[in-house]
Amino acid sequence: MEKTNLDKFMDLHEDEIVIDRSRKLRVAIVGTGWIAASHMVEYLKMDDVMVVAACDIVPGKAKAFCEKWGVPDAHCYTSDLEMYEKESLDAVSVCTYNGTHAECTIHALRFGVNVLLEKPMCVTTEEATSIMHAEKESGKIVSVGFQPRFDKDMQLLRRVVKSGVLGKIYYIQTGGGRREGIPFPFGTSFIEQETGVIGAIGDIGCYSLDMVLNCIGYPKPLTVTGYTSAFFGKNPGYSGYVKSGHPEYAKIFGVDDFAAAFVRLEGDIILDFRISWAMHMDTPGDTLILGTEGGLRIPSTDCWNGTIGGDLILYHTVGSEQVQTVIPRINPEERTPCFEMKVRSFLDAIHTGGKAPIPTSEIIYNQAIIDHIVKSAKLGHEIPVEIPEI
Ligand SMILES: NC(=O)c1ccc[n+]([C@@H]2O[C@H](COP(=O)([O-])OP(=O)(O)OC[C@H]3O[C@@H](n4cnc5c(N)ncnc54)[C@H](O)[C@@H]3O)[C@@H](O)[C@H]2O)c1
Repeated sequence: MEKTNLDKFMDLHEDEIVIDRSRKLRVAIVGTGWIAASHMVEYLKMDDVMVVAACDIVPGKAKAFCEKWGVPDAHCYTSDLEMYEKESLDAVSVCTYNGTHAECTIHALRFGVNVLLEKPMCVTTEEATSIMHAEKESGKIVSVGFQPRFDKDMQLLRRVVKSGVLGKIYYIQTGGGRREGIPFPFGTSFIEQETGVIGAIGDIGCYSLDMVLNCIGYPKPLTVTGYTSAFFGKNPGYSGYVKSGHPEYAKIFGVDDFAAAFVRLEGDIILDFRISWAMHMDTPGDTLILGTEGGLRIPSTDCWNGTIGGDLILYHTVGSEQVQTVIPRINPEERTPCFEMKVRSFLDAIHTGGKAPIPTSEIIYNQAIIDHIVKSAKLGHEIPVEIPEI
């Protein structure tokens, strides 16, 4: 059937780049815990990947992991440095707990290996800077694992904001939260100071920050007033502990379970942020983006798993009338395979010699906000954001 002009227009899309994936990439996984399985699932689907090695500091853990996933011939190590000495690798997934993200990423880069680094980027601004130095010196890439960036509705949100329909953006309220969601499904690495180091703020706060900062081009943070607390995590009577039979976790809980902050961003934008693993409330509110020409409501988000909570609502004025325009989500029933896309985009950047799809040059600002919330909370007052030159 003859296409109408409109149909032809609908077919238009950006030119797809043809990627030569004929070279097999030699890949390893460092840290073979919970999220490593999701990386392995994706690598096993991809014809251009061979998982040749794995490493975990817990003796036997990497071996058991590789056997479970049907790659028993992969070489297994308890030291990533020994692995890099012995293996020739193109890429590594760093899936360790937050406390060792920086050292494991820097080790890989020093051996000329590209890194897909799980979120959060690391723990402190200083660590983030060291990662960027090592990346620059190595000529390799680090892509940070924010898979919600590939979600169609997250991309819709970005397009709406970037269209300019809001005018000059001056205020953003964002965050997210769970009423009873301190994570300990596979152990206590999220809640112990030594391993997790940061709690809700690093685990899910980083996603909320990325959602809005990615829409507005990642402006530099200038000052932060931060607050953190741990009233639920440190309470043996917390409902999540009681239900799971783990009141003893209250004694080892060493991170935040709630954080809030007031952040000044370059461009005269205020970011009002709150995040929670546990609280007596269903949600700390929708994400709101206010501009001189319009305001956007993004219904309370489960943004840490790659979705937004409902259709977007644009509030604006037309001919002196206040109107609301609903911007529907793109097929909310059909989830984008975000995790696959985060892995695929990383590998394709290696094939093409392209830039990291989720670059450290952006995520360092995400990390700096998190780190300065922690620092400001300890000091009890506002602090300037200091990021060393890269
Ligand atoms: N993108 C996502 O959807 C998602 C989901 C869950 C977790 N994560 C992130 O992934 C990271 C890991 O989380 P997890 O739940 O898999 O934790 P986990 O505790 O289950 O696994 C971490 C593993 O890393 C190992 N490890 C730690 N330091 C190491 C080192 N120096 N060398 C080798 N191995 C080392 C530990 O022994 C452990 O087996 C966290 O930073 C978390 O924020 C991301």
